[in-house]
Amino acid sequence: MGSANDDVSRVLIPENVIRDRISSLAAEIEAVYDGDIIVVAVLTGSVVFLSDLIRCLPHRMEIGYITVSSYKGDLPTEPRLGSVSLPELRGRDVLIVDDILDTGNTLRLVQGMLRGHEPRTLRTATLLRKPSKAPPDVPAEFVGFDIEDMFVVGYGLDFEGRHRNLPHISELRA
Ligand code: XMP
Repeated sequence: MGSANDDVSRVLIPENVIRDRISSLAAEIEAVYDGDIIVVAVLTGSVVFLSDLIRCLPHRMEIGYITVSSYKGDLPTEPRLGSVSLPELRGRDVLIVDDILDTGNTLRLVQGMLRGHEPRTLRTATLLRKPSKAPPDVPAEFVGFDIEDMFVVGYGLDFEGRHRNLPHISELRA
């Protein structure tokens, strides 16, 4: 039986490095919010990051989600909103949790949609960012790691729906 690990050529960010960074990222987030927060997860790529991050945050929180499809294999397509399940956001402190800020098209769509709900504050936490591509009009206040422009999988990120279960961030074997 083959495993998801057989399909990757190089581990870029190992499991223990992700774990340590998530706890320091949670400390950055904790320093910003005094009260209750609403976390909005951008699914499906953020599931693993979400579950590890929220367990490091002491706040009272509610969780909503938005699904967005933006890739066919490793080719970006115009992002499209799918299902949305959100608590009342008006006047609340809202934190978006996403897996990667790449071209920014997905987060631009999500941030614009959520701004329409008139939250008191709207911030974004993303595990990964490609600084060479991330556009200046799409803010991310909390970033786990900046990476080079390469297609990565693992820790929630997929190629054609697979490899989300890898505990590390890796480059796919060509
Ligand atoms: P954009 O380009 O809109 O990307 O910022 C957002 C969504 O596209 C997916 N994405 C990736 N998925 N490896 C992946 O597995 C990557 O390198 C990658 N780049 C973008 C991801 O779902 C992200 O939320």
